[in-house]
Amino acid sequence: MNDSSSMSAVDAVLTKRDVRHYQNKPVSDEHRERLIQAARMAGSAKNAEVNRLMLIDDAEVAERLAGAGDFSAWIGSAPLIIGFVTPFEFDRPFDVGRMAQNTMIVAHSLGLATCPVTLHHEDITRAILGIPEDHHMLMVVTVGYPVADAPPSPLKRVRVGSDELVHENAWR
Ligand SMILES: Cc1cc2nc3c(=O)[nH]c(=O)nc-3n(C[C@H](O)[C@H](O)[C@H](O)COP(=O)(O)O)c2cc1C
Repeated sequence: MNDSSSMSAVDAVLTKRDVRHYQNKPVSDEHRERLIQAARMAGSAKNAEVNRLMLIDDAEVAERLAGAGDFSAWIGSAPLIIGFVTPFEFDRPFDVGRMAQNTMIVAHSLGLATCPVTLHHEDITRAILGIPEDHHMLMVVTVGYPVADAPPSPLKRVRVGSDELVHENAWR
């Protein structure tokens, strides 16, 4: 990507926080394409590339989807939701995680805010979106332009320190 308005990968990783409040404004087609490309370029185990994206920009669908998770009541206000659809046969959460993180880091570098959200009730999700029986969509990322005066997340805290995070050569 050669976009002078985007930040470095290091800065994007270090400054990205999860945001749940968005302007009431659609995500531009250009930004939408960038996010699709970011997810598309994630590698996959054995290069299987079996995961698919579900883009939701219909407010009515988003509002219904809010009932598919235990902590997702707020997602109907997101102008765009990107869901990660996986076939059971090749269920590889690491691959989905890579796609999602690519998407969120690129979004942040372009000035968009995002938050990963779990949809615990896969049958509800499947019924709303018509996802086939042999696939599921457990994770989505909400996307939108951030509001200036968003309240801080109640869960927000500094990350665990490196000394606690890292074990070297053996578990201590
Ligand atoms: C796998 C995963 C699932 C998450 N599910 C939800 C969710 O269902 N609802 C929600 O509001 N936030 C969800 N989050 C967001 C976390 O609460 C957030 O990543 C964490 O609090 C860090 O936020 P911060 O960047 O503001 O510190 C999820 C995050 C991850 C990584």
